This record gives sequence, structure tokens and C-alpha cells, in this order.
Amino acid sequence: MTEQALRALFDALSQEEKIGQLLQLEAGFFAQSDFQTGPAAALGLQAQDAALCGSVLNLRGAEEAKAVQARFIRQHPHHIPLLLMLDVINGYETAFPIPLAQACSFRPELTQALCAAAAREASADGLHVTFSPMADLAADCRWGRVMESSGEDPLLCAAFSAAAVRGYQGDDLAHGGTLAACGKHFAGYGAPLAGSEYAQVELSPAAFQSDYLSGYRACIGAGSRLMMTAFNTVDGIPASGSKPLLRDLLRGQLGFEGLLISDYSAIAEMIRHGYAEDRRSAARLALEAGVDMEMVGVCYVRELDALVRSGEIPQRLIDEAAWRVLKLKNDLGLFEDPYRGADAEKFRACALENRTLAAQAAAETFVLLKNDGGLLPLGAQKAAFIGPYAESRALHGAWSFFCREADTVSIRQGVEALGKAAAFCKGAPLLAPGAIIPGFSADYVESETEETQATLLREAVRAASAAETVVLCLGEQRLQSGEGGSRAEPVLPAPQMQLLRAVRDVNPNIVLILFAGRPLLLRDVLPLCKSLLYVWFPGSMGGAAIAEVLYGEKEPVGRLSMSFPASVGQCPISYRALNTGRPEALVPTGRFHNGYQDCPSAPLFPFGFGLSYSAWQCGPLTADRAAFASGEHLVLTCTVRNIGRRKSSTVLQLYLQDVCASVCRPRRELKDWHHVTLAPGAETAVSFEVTERMLQFYGPDGALRAEAGEFRAYAGFDSGTQNACAFYFQ
Ligand code: BGC
Repeated sequence: MTEQALRALFDALSQEEKIGQLLQLEAGFFAQSDFQTGPAAALGLQAQDAALCGSVLNLRGAEEAKAVQARFIRQHPHHIPLLLMLDVINGYETAFPIPLAQACSFRPELTQALCAAAAREASADGLHVTFSPMADLAADCRWGRVMESSGEDPLLCAAFSAAAVRGYQGDDLAHGGTLAACGKHFAGYGAPLAGSEYAQVELSPAAFQSDYLSGYRACIGAGSRLMMTAFNTVDGIPASGSKPLLRDLLRGQLGFEGLLISDYSAIAEMIRHGYAEDRRSAARLALEAGVDMEMVGVCYVRELDALVRSGEIPQRLIDEAAWRVLKLKNDLGLFEDPYRGADAEKFRACALENRTLAAQAAAETFVLLKNDGGLLPLGAQKAAFIGPYAESRALHGAWSFFCREADTVSIRQGVEALGKAAAFCKGAPLLAPGAIIPGFSADYVESETEETQATLLREAVRAASAAETVVLCLGEQRLQSGEGGSRAEPVLPAPQMQLLRAVRDVNPNIVLILFAGRPLLLRDVLPLCKSLLYVWFPGSMGGAAIAEVLYGEKEPVGRLSMSFPASVGQCPISYRALNTGRPEALVPTGRFHNGYQDCPSAPLFPFGFGLSYSAWQCGPLTADRAAFASGEHLVLTCTVRNIGRRKSSTVLQLYLQDVCASVCRPRRELKDWHHVTLAPGAETAVSFEVTERMLQFYGPDGALRAEAGEFRAYAGFDSGTQNACAFYFQ
């Protein structure tokens, strides 16, 4: 409807209806007929709240969505439709690789295509809004939600966050087949102390501005219609009630004009944080800070009216928030078509169609970490596929609620589809017998017993002895990462380590395939295998893509979006650390240098690392001039050669270092990259254009600046490259 008509509708609403728009309920509560007992009553919900609420969380199914919407509109005094929201993170029923893996493709356009595909599928199932992308910068692999992030680098994080928003929302939100995006979690959620879920966040103003805001800025720049607050405190203030963070920074400085939703019950949780005395003060703090909608909580519906009546908050704040909800509904076209093309058949067709994309995408995200002796790609040798992931179909990561395992392609199916003869056995339980991982809805309980574990191990040793090559398929259980998935020791589960050692005793030709939602600690694992392919959680078509890569039909082309620590003591670890006054390289002996006595300071694998099936070399990096000034640019060039025996692709990465600045700058920062594909023996010159924009950084005051002086440039195949040259900016 026109803005004028929307205004007229808004003006006709009662206070109760306006406040109702600010409430989001779980589908379960909403469907309740009895508000006297059960979880709705425990939360303090009343039937009238459900009748007037603005949005529903986790309602799925085209037919169900249409029925609920029709009923709701009919009974609502002004027939205002509901907003249906859900976490569509890496695909929907057809699961794509987890976001951390997508970032390893170094192809934001891939993520854009995946998010557009997920939006088509999920909107056909009745949804309007997805709580994605997660734009939190994450450098600590103890934190379970790194799986949902784009990793440790601000540029990569910004590029992938923006691409996701563009993919979900398309060019025109009113056009069906799209979802409104919600950048989250504002702010700093990816830096919880010691990687512990929901823990406090303490960041320097410089790191916060320059690094941690990058993903959110990108979401806003790409037009994300919603943003979500974070559960954590930032410098002692819960994000969901922080006026400086939300009203001043998010809305004021960053210019966000869309709908700001709290995270799940985060407004009431300010009481437990020790920041709000009670529900009433929590409601006041959140609304004053600028939170428009409360996700599953009753602070707003129970308290806002009284707060206005007592004069503690102005009516204007409620009006602004309710207006934003109506505006989003209107932009989504809900007043014209409250179902937005929800259609069960269309949904089925989209889910099926998305499988092709899922297979292509998965192969772009695998990272080859080791290939000694060139065991990969596999040839005609007799291979035994051993491990709990050899035949598993649970390849979709913690945030895929609707992925159907029955439709997922396992490694075994992928290998057999290629017509390869191989033996398969489980070898070990995923976790220790009896272990339980609490789930989002259902828990994972390891069903193998100590007796069956021993039998599995015996079978595995037999199969490994009879094979030329063993492909060990190991990894984390999918619920070990994701929300609530912090791990103090993110190692391979003990029964799988035992399997690895036992197999290694009888056959050293081990190709290890690792599934995980995070970088695992691999120091003890690495010496036990000859090849190591990291496949994250690859989604519905994972097994097909893995088989193609193993047998060389495709090449592993992923590059790490997070550094892999050598020890948990290094966490959080990032290649972008600042220099100390005593770097290890410059103080090589004695004790008074940066780092550890019992562990190197370098990661096990650096950010940007990844091997291919060929070998690559790059020539010296040169600049076309010694200096450039504002408004000009400079060109850096180096020659890249495929020195291996097969056609191959790599990612040439450009890093810059601002040698001396008013705020210490990282040792190096990713600034650009090029994908290069060459025939064996071929070479090409690759150039990067360096502009003033690339030299800029945000000061602690939030102002963007480029400072004159010396810069060092590095180009190579990972963040550890020493291929460097210098230039000046005047
Ligand atoms: C998570 C959010 C998510 C929300 C709704 C919360 O627990 O932190 O990322 O969008 O639940 O499912």
C-alpha cells in the first residue's frame, strides 16, 4: 500500500495493537489454545498477546503458514498480517555448506547465489524473514558459532555478509522468492571471553571500530532490512539495552534504518546480567536503546503501556518501533499478498532444484591441508573408507533444522555413484559410548557401547590391513558446534583418535577426511595421516562432492577462512595480530620475546592456506611506482606459475601492512585476491590495483582515515607469505 495508506492504518491502531506489533512469539506458543497453563503461562503470555502479536518465529510449512496467517488476519482488529521469521542459515531443506566453509571459497558471489536459492525455497515454504547473515567476526575456534561466521578476516566477513544480504533480498523485496535479511548479532558477539558462549565482550575501541564492526557495516550497506542485537555485554553493558551501541552507533553513526529485533529473550536476560532490576526496567532500557521488536519475551507487552502512562518513556518510541514493523510488512508486500506465494509444490520443486547448486558449492569449500606423497587424488588403488562419517548422512551442521538426512548423499553413495570399488566400515562411534550432546530440540546420544566399539575397531583394522589406501572419515558430531557449542578442547573425539592410531599401525597410507564446524586442534592428528582434506559440514550433497574431489574429478579449491591453532592456548588467533616490540623473529634466542615457551607462536595452518592437486609458485612482487597520492593508484604485480602436472586453480592473495600509523596496525591485512586457473607449466602476471581506500582504517573515534607513510605489500598463497615489496602513500 502507499505510505499514506500505511500511515492511515497506523494512526487507527490502539496502543495495545501498536505494542502487539513489537512482540514475536514462538509458533508453539502461538498455536496454544490454553494460556492458563504450560510454557506460555510460565512466560506470562495471555491469549490476547497472541491475537495481536506482530511476528511468529519457527512456523514452517506452506500450508500451515497460510492457514495460520488467514486465521490471524481474520481475527486481528485491523487485519494486519504476521511476519514469519526463521533461521535459514546454510540453505533450508536442501542444506548448503556451513557459512565458515562458504567463506573458504573466497567467492562471495557463491554465497549470494546460495542465499538467493535458499530464499526461493524458504519463501515458497511460507517464510518472510531469515535471521541471517551472522556478521560477527570470529577468531576463536573454541566458540561453537564460528561455523556460522565468515571467519577471522574483516574484509572477507564484510564481503560474505553483504553477498548474503543481496542474495536473500534480491533486487525487489516485494517480489516473491525473496526473504528479508537480518544481520546479527550487534555487536561483538563473535569475541566472547575465552570462547565461552554468551560470555562478556571486551574489545579495544580500535579493534571494535576497525575489525568487529566490518560485517555489520557491510550488512547495512547492502540494505539488510533487519538487524539483531547480541546476547553479550560489550564493555559491561548488555548489547540489547545499550543506547550508545544501538541508538548512537547502529542507528546514528552506521545509519541503520530498518527493524531492530532483540535476540531470543535477550531483553529479559538483562535482569540476569545484573543491568536491569526487573522486567519493567528491562523493557525501558531496550526501547530507549532502540530495540523495536522483542523476540520471545513479555517485557514489552507487559510493561510498555505502563511506562508510557507513567511518563517514563515517550509515546514516540513506541510509535517509531511499531511503524518500522508495519513498514517492513508493507515492503514485503504482505498487505497485498499475506502468503507471498507460499506453495507446497513450488517449495518441493525449489528444494530439488537446489541440490545441483548444493553439490557445486560443497566442492568449492573443501580445503586440502596436507598431501604428502600425492596420495590424492585417488587412482585405481583399492581403498577402504573407514570411520563414522564413511556412511553417515548427518552432514549438515547444527543450524540446519529441516535438512532431511534421508535425502543427503553420504560419502559411500558418492563413491558408488562414481562406480569406484571400495570397502566401507564404521570403525568407531562418533563419540565415547553413552556420551550425550544436548541438541536444539533433540539430543544426540551415542548409541554404540564399549563392546560394539571394540568390534568396530577390529573390523576397521582388518579392512585397513587389506587395503592399499585408507580413507578415514572422521570429525565432530554436528551438534558439537553451533550455538551453545563452545569447547575448551576442540579436538577429535577420543574413540576416533583411537581408531586413527590403530589404523595407522597397520597401514600408513591414510587420507583423512575431516568434518567439523570449526578449526579443530590437529597437532596430534597431522603426523598420523599422509593427506588431509577438511570438508567442514558440506550439506545435503556433501558425499557426492567429496567423492568427486577424492577421485580428482574436481580439485579442492578452498582456502582457510580461519587460522588453525597449534594449541588451544593460542586462541583466539588471527594473522592480523599487532606486532609487539619483541617479535619472535627479531629476538630469536633467549626468553624475552613474544610467544610461548611450549608452543610456537605460528598457527598450525595460517589463514588463506590451502593446497591444490598441482603445485604453484609465484615470482617477486613489484610495484609500478614507488609512491602514490590521494586520488591516484598504484599497481602491484607478480607472476604466478602452475609448476605441477595438472590444470589447477589457486587464490593469489594480497596483504598490506601500514608500517607506522597513529594507531598500531596489524602485521598484515588481506586487501584483495584473485582466483587463477592455469594449465600445467603455464604462467600469468597477476596485478592488484592499490587505492587509497585500501589504506584506510577506522580510528577509535569511528573516523575513516589513510595516513601517509610507508606500506609493505605481500602477495602469495596464504597469509604467511614472505613475497613482499614496499611503497609510500603521500
Ligand atoms: C540465536 C539467534 C537466532 C535466534 C532465533 C538465538 O538463540 O542467538 O542467532 O536467530 O535464536 O532462533
